[in-house]
Amino acid sequence: MKKVQDHYFKKAKKDNYPARSVYKLEEAQKKFQILRRNDKVLDLGCHPGSWTKYAAGIIGGKGRVVGIDLQQCRIKGPPGGAEIELIRGDIFDPQLAVLQEAEFDVVLSDMAPKTSGNKFTDHVKSVELARRALEIATKVLRKNGHFYCKVFQGEDFPGFVEDTRQFFSKVKVVKPKSSRSESREVFVLGMNLV
Ligand SMILES: C[S@@+](CC[C@H](N)C(=O)[O-])C[C@H]1O[C@@H](n2cnc3c(N)ncnc32)[C@H](O)[C@@H]1O
Repeated sequence: MKKVQDHYFKKAKKDNYPARSVYKLEEAQKKFQILRRNDKVLDLGCHPGSWTKYAAGIIGGKGRVVGIDLQQCRIKGPPGGAEIELIRGDIFDPQLAVLQEAEFDVVLSDMAPKTSGNKFTDHVKSVELARRALEIATKVLRKNGHFYCKVFQGEDFPGFVEDTRQFFSKVKVVKPKSSRSESREVFVLGMNLV
């Protein structure tokens, strides 16, 4: 397991990404083509910016990525990549203007609570973040838009997947190889907002 960690950690350094988490998006992208050229993407919980940078490269110079995080993110996109806007804010803040903007093609969320060590508490907080991400996605996505969201599994997880199914025509639970096998994190992918 340690080997796998080291592999992705080193690979992220080599590929010039600030976090190994980038491969959890890249794997899903290769399999499901979530992001397309010229897309407008909202990245919830974007710090330190690996997903934002990766998305900016995939969608290209005519695309746009808006990243939001509690912490100030300062990532730069790759050459020829999309315009990036980075906002410091809390996704529960109802005043956050970007959350009123409609017509995003993709909403990503790799948000995670500060882990407490208590599995149940961490699970409950993670589902809270995921539910808020789903609420935002259903508001800002265009019809047929996609949603890719991290959640820590636990007793409220099946309910979250069921709720996601109400809004998207295809829903999958994804566990990328780059996600540590001992971690309870998985990703819920909602494709084609109805
Ligand atoms: C695992 S990191 C994201 C890593 C990022 N996807 C990357 O590839 O660089 C999770 C982030 O979620 C953010 N987060 C947690 N709760 C949040 C909230 N209420 N509003 C905005 N961001 C939040 C944290 O500050 C943290 O930076």
